[in-house]
Amino acid sequence: MKPSIVVLISGNGSNLQAIIDDCEAGKINGKVTAVVSNRPGAYGLERAQNAEIDAIELDHKKFDSRAQYDQALRQVIDEYQPDVVVLAGFMRILTGDFVNHYQGKMLNIHPSLLPKYPGRNTHQRAIDAGDKAHGVSVHFVTEELDGGPVILQAKVPVFEDDTAEDLAERIHEQEHRIYPMVVNWLCERRLTMTDGRAMLDAKVLPPCGYAND
Ligand code: GAR
Repeated sequence: MKPSIVVLISGNGSNLQAIIDDCEAGKINGKVTAVVSNRPGAYGLERAQNAEIDAIELDHKKFDSRAQYDQALRQVIDEYQPDVVVLAGFMRILTGDFVNHYQGKMLNIHPSLLPKYPGRNTHQRAIDAGDKAHGVSVHFVTEELDGGPVILQAKVPVFEDDTAEDLAERIHEQEHRIYPMVVNWLCERRLTMTDGRAMLDAKVLPPCGYAND
């Protein structure tokens, strides 16, 4: 049986789509078995339904605490016995218990060249700082927000007149290339997290991930 991939989203789900497409094309040796959104009506849920994948809405507003929500989320996810859990624009901070439960199995994509700009509004922050380059990072999820070991980064230029929307668009293109590739590495067990470090083909990756320059 192919490795089971569960994807968590909050919105549009273009990264989810890239992963679904690469599974269907045989470029990812895995199968998206469920998509869960914390936001009702997120477009990514429709993408899942179109691909005949279970689409589950789990509204965080219906829970009294973060711990209760994360526990419910874990129950939903674990029904699909995931080999890989993918955060694809899932805009929530996760509890330590939840993160530890999926240690070494859970990936996130973050729109900055980590460790620069963890958190939100990364595109505007890069513009405001006068950065000439910006980018995106795929990393293992650990308890530290956007702080887990980086697996792969992609860089984009920042031009003088760029708006945050321009940068978001440029970054998205790169995201759709690199995220499916990393998901496949994890499905194929080429990628592991050992002693808090990302390893590909049994070699420790440098702090900037595989595509270092
Ligand atoms: C992506 O750009 C992703 O990097 C970002 O949300 C977007 C989701 O797009 N994630 C974060 O900011 C996480 N901190 P999508 O819904 O079209 O895949």
